[in-house]
Amino acid sequence: MNRKVTKAIFPVAGLGTRFLPATKSIPKEIMTLVDRPLIQYAIDEARSAGIKEFIFVTSRGKGALEDYFDHAHELENTLRKDGKTDLLELLRQTNMESGAIAYIRQHKAMGLGHAVWCARRLVADEPFAVLLTDDVIQGEPPCLQQMIEAHAETGGSMVATMEVPMDKTRSYGVLDVAEDMGAIVRVRGMVEKPRENPPSNLAVIGRYILAPTVMENLNKLKQGAGGEIQLTDAIADEIEAGRDVYGLRFRGQRFDCGSKAGFLQATVAFGLAREELRPEFLDYLQDVLAMRKAAE
Ligand code: G1P
Repeated sequence: MNRKVTKAIFPVAGLGTRFLPATKSIPKEIMTLVDRPLIQYAIDEARSAGIKEFIFVTSRGKGALEDYFDHAHELENTLRKDGKTDLLELLRQTNMESGAIAYIRQHKAMGLGHAVWCARRLVADEPFAVLLTDDVIQGEPPCLQQMIEAHAETGGSMVATMEVPMDKTRSYGVLDVAEDMGAIVRVRGMVEKPRENPPSNLAVIGRYILAPTVMENLNKLKQGAGGEIQLTDAIADEIEAGRDVYGLRFRGQRFDCGSKAGFLQATVAFGLAREELRPEFLDYLQDVLAMRKAAE
């Protein structure tokens, strides 16, 4: 029996420079997709996949992120007095059970692998999930749930993966596939942001289920691509050590909310997915397109 995955790490220490000036005063993870901060999407996905302990690897200037999960007593009291039970319920979903959430500080920006390593003592000897909040995924069941189900069969470590155009592989961790079983691939190597000769066009997307031995690999803290300590390298070390690593071609659509274009696309997709917004928003989009066509 593979051990149940109940802990998840959310590396949220990044500076978010691609969204300056907004990120001068708000953490990028608090930026809003429709009416919810990015972090809420990742939390909801983790919760629905059975995650019970949420570990945030933060950095200076992320106070707003920590506050987001606290009770907002004044606000809640006012809503209660006004009988706004629907809004109270909405807020309730943002609260975390006491003790379910932990914050660890990454003191220096040394890469994703280093951020994950900062949480090693909280993870101890259990398999754990990692969710990158920049990657927002629309999927049913949610992507992490799909992975937990697949991982219960395979064991080992698992990354979410999808095909990307060959010329985009240099922005991702890329899989070298040993065996393609359809939805699941067994991996024989992984390269972080290959400058040339990518081993495939299967890119790593920001959802991972990792064996605790990945933390041991990270203990070596070796620098990889871009001079950073790369999570990809620590996962590749698992294969070197003879342990299994898989990729799951998840069902769903992924948005790169680390880029402005991706964020805008996600705004459209998640806006259209909301029944109460759809008719008006769709009309607007159609008008915009028609106007652009007429102007051509
Ligand atoms: C990180 C990982 C990379 C992965 C990507 C997915 O890169 O290092 O392997 O493919 O996330 O979004 P980043 O985009 O943070 O540079």
